[in-house]
Amino acid sequence: MSDSPSKVRLAIIGAGSRGTGYASFAEAHPDRVAVTAVAEPNPRRREALVERFGIPAENVFTHWEDLAACEDKVADAVVVATQDRQHRAPAIALAQGGYHMLLEKPMAPTEEDCRAIVAAVKEAGILFAVAHVMRYTRYTTALKQLIDSGRIGDVITVQHLEPVGFWHQAHSFVRGNWHSAEQSTFMLMAKSCHDLDWLRYIVGSRFRAVSSFGRLSHFTPGNRPAGAAERCLDCAVEADCAYSASRFYLGHLQKGNTGWPVDVITGDPNPTEESVREALRTGPYGRCVYSGDNDVVDHQVVSMDFENGATASFTMTAFNEAGPRRTGIFGTRGEIRADGVKLEIFDFLTGKTETIDTDAQADVEGVLQGHGGGDYGLMRAFIDAVAAGDGSPILSGPDATLESHLAVFAAESARDSDQVARLIP
Ligand SMILES: NC(=O)c1ccc[n+]([C@@H]2O[C@H](COP(=O)([O-])OP(=O)(O)OC[C@H]3O[C@@H](n4cnc5c(N)ncnc54)[C@H](O)[C@@H]3O)[C@@H](O)[C@H]2O)c1
Repeated sequence: MSDSPSKVRLAIIGAGSRGTGYASFAEAHPDRVAVTAVAEPNPRRREALVERFGIPAENVFTHWEDLAACEDKVADAVVVATQDRQHRAPAIALAQGGYHMLLEKPMAPTEEDCRAIVAAVKEAGILFAVAHVMRYTRYTTALKQLIDSGRIGDVITVQHLEPVGFWHQAHSFVRGNWHSAEQSTFMLMAKSCHDLDWLRYIVGSRFRAVSSFGRLSHFTPGNRPAGAAERCLDCAVEADCAYSASRFYLGHLQKGNTGWPVDVITGDPNPTEESVREALRTGPYGRCVYSGDNDVVDHQVVSMDFENGATASFTMTAFNEAGPRRTGIFGTRGEIRADGVKLEIFDFLTGKTETIDTDAQADVEGVLQGHGGGDYGLMRAFIDAVAAGDGSPILSGPDATLESHLAVFAAESARDSDQVARLIP
């Protein structure tokens, strides 16, 4: 196998939501990428990918361990999209096997695991990208160019909001895969490692110190309405509850959405009303949001001090409609108001405002539209890097990712201990 394949052979490790999503890049660019192998224990998910891409039987595996044990490499590169606590082992083994790697974020839920992955990746000398998709949008590219051009002078302050959304919080962080820090990871790592990474990228300086506050305020048994049942399907007060699982998932289905988030609850790529009702009756997604199984925060703030003297504040909160992140960037010559698509630049000297519409979806070609086109941008950069045998298109390599993950661990420990955490003495 050449180090610079003209057509990249890709193996998907974990054909869940994310792994399957990244695979669709190969459908949009069959001349550049072929999905040649899959490892996935769920037979419906595995078979769906096998059928879609005509993966040969000898390259179809139940577990990543089986794929890693193959003497001959079954692909040039792997996408590791298993759950958070299942990143370290496959990432290290597959790096040692010489596979270039796109690893889902978070790299891992502990500092020790993150450092072990980075060491293995460097030792193996593979091309490595972590799915910090926000770095790869057209919007971020345009914003970064504006800032680096000096258009607003020196960046002094940044204010950044992540409106998670009441329903998204309930789906993923109260009922779903990330409801328990012990079973997956803490909220700041699960949801907002993107944001601290992005702020570091935008500001262009290392974190000096961080502090943080936040807690689980609303999704607790103490806020359970009188008369609420254990499951929304049986609940007498469900009609008055904004977090009703029946209304949410059946409502999506009635509108014809059988994809995310509905397929997540059935574990089936083709959910039906029957399978959704069954999931609501028996699975975690049909439970009352006030059951008390969850422990991750529903709001958190982080204050950041950067080595170059800039400061930033970040707010993650469940209590909104959900929508793109909103950011204010305040410089010595102007201000940028940014909403995920549009950038409004106010110039202090001229008093004029210019608006740039970055039209985030323009080059997505109908696939991987998630995260404002960042999913697509990441895959394109990763495939470009593997095809050329040159890591320069990758913006979220091992060092950059480790640095921002360490800031996330520091912020969480600052929240836990009610102290300021210093990253640079
Ligand atoms: N970049 C982003 O913005 C973003 C967004 C959402 C999720 N994520 C991350 O992506 C990762 C995957 O999330 P998801 O929502 O796709 O999860 P998922 O549960 O839908 O998919 C994970 C898959 O891994 C499979 N798996 C389990 N053990 C395995 C093994 N031994 N070998 C191979 N496969 C195995 C599971 O069966 C499952 O299908 C998580 O780490 C998550 O935090 C990232």
